[in-house]
Amino acid sequence: MRAHLITHGCQMNEYDSHLVQSQLVSLGADMVGSVDEADFVLVNTCAVRGKPVDKVRSLLGELRIQKSRRKLVVGMMGCLAQLEEGQQIARKFEVDVLLGPGSLLDIGAALESNERFWGLQFKDELHDHIPPAPQGKLQAHLTIMRGCDHHCTYCIVPTTRGPQVSRHPDQIMRELDSLLAAGVQEVTLLGQNVNAYGFDAGAKLAGHPSFADLLRQVGSSGIRRVKFTTSHPMNFTEDVAVAMAETPAVCDFVHLPVQSGSDAVLRRMAREYTREKYLTHIGQIKRHLPDAVLATDIIVGFPGETEADFQDTLSLYDEVGYDSAYMFIYSPRPGTPSYKHFQDLPREVKTERLQRLIVRQKDWSARRNARFQGTVQEVLLRGDAHTAGSLEGHTRGNHPIVVPRAIGAAGAGLYQARVTATTPHMLYGELVGADGQTLPLMPNLEPAAAGMINPLPMV
Ligand code: SAH
Ligand code: SF4
Ligand code: F3S
Repeated sequence: MRAHLITHGCQMNEYDSHLVQSQLVSLGADMVGSVDEADFVLVNTCAVRGKPVDKVRSLLGELRIQKSRRKLVVGMMGCLAQLEEGQQIARKFEVDVLLGPGSLLDIGAALESNERFWGLQFKDELHDHIPPAPQGKLQAHLTIMRGCDHHCTYCIVPTTRGPQVSRHPDQIMRELDSLLAAGVQEVTLLGQNVNAYGFDAGAKLAGHPSFADLLRQVGSSGIRRVKFTTSHPMNFTEDVAVAMAETPAVCDFVHLPVQSGSDAVLRRMAREYTREKYLTHIGQIKRHLPDAVLATDIIVGFPGETEADFQDTLSLYDEVGYDSAYMFIYSPRPGTPSYKHFQDLPREVKTERLQRLIVRQKDWSARRNARFQGTVQEVLLRGDAHTAGSLEGHTRGNHPIVVPRAIGAAGAGLYQARVTATTPHMLYGELVGADGQTLPLMPNLEPAAAGMINPLPMV
């Protein structure tokens, strides 16, 4: 079998794709890089907004055309597969294999079956399954919990991924050991709400540490960098900030989605915190981690959001001074309470507000990134950047950075770099040695690299 896997959606889906790919390889599949080379194409789907659903629809449309011309098995996995909406799409486009996020380990049975195979159960075996470490990667994801016990009124994820299940810490540590042995330098702990780790259905699980203690445990394993996503402000505790400050391997990067700065909107979203409570958590983070890089998610144009509510979001943005933000236009999702009960705002109102928020975000990112000018940052270089002669990677604060290749630092790995220019979205730098001295550039690259590093004007 020649299999090709296409992944949409978030880091959870990337992790799940790796898990399923490992299963496919164990079943003897040859993983290929394109649809044309494959006789099995599997699409890992996202359902969080309308756009990713539209993307899947058009991709499956193309695959159905290919199917009519040659022998091809088409599979659909992930969040959309779990929904009635996704199953209708699967029927329309003649999908052969459909696996919800809790049935991924059924891939073998699905491929053996001679009939259409649909797996939609949330199976416990998944939580004890440890996929092999990815080959040649310095960065890896590690799922510490699945599902979500919250009921934010706009969100489809609790339906697609089911109730929260925290993995046993022994499994997490075993998986971490295998990543360490494979040379992974940075691990991102994944969950829809990592701060609720160990409290499934609101009750403390015996034998599970708190999330703060899990961070301490993971951080003392010898791994160089630990990150995590996502935090729900409702379950955030000061101890998480304390654990981050105490544990050098844990990066000072906090992604704390706020969604809105207006209490009225937060209430309609059923976010279970107020603006004031959120700002208290931000204050705790800033106190324990004065250099923390802060990121958030914001939804604009939630039903009933007034101009005054939106102004509250803008003022909250200024009060926190975020380094970055993922900003979304509200997308009504069938099956969610807000879809059923609330009237969507006109598209123009939503897009106009998004534009204003993007201006605010760019302004803050420019200011926040400028503070790194001249500083030395630890960078995890992945490999070649788009510009010839340079390498790309990211800092402990998740900023993408580009540096020219230097003698003694020609490939992927952890290095030190001095930041020489910043824009709202990027840092540019030069590699430095342990003594802080700039490493000499690779001789044949000097002119091009010097051109590349010209500071871009700040936007
Ligand atoms: N569990 C995570 C978020 C998962 S979804 C958390 O609670 O932080 C990622 C982001 O998508 C959310 O933070 C939210 O900002 C956005 N999102 C979710 N549903 C959405 C919808 N219906 N319309 C627009 N954005 C949405
Ligand atoms: Fe969705 Fe809310 Fe759960 Fe996040 S916490 S996955 S936004 S229901
Ligand atoms: Fe992720 Fe999309 Fe599912 S954001 S959790 S893949 S709905």
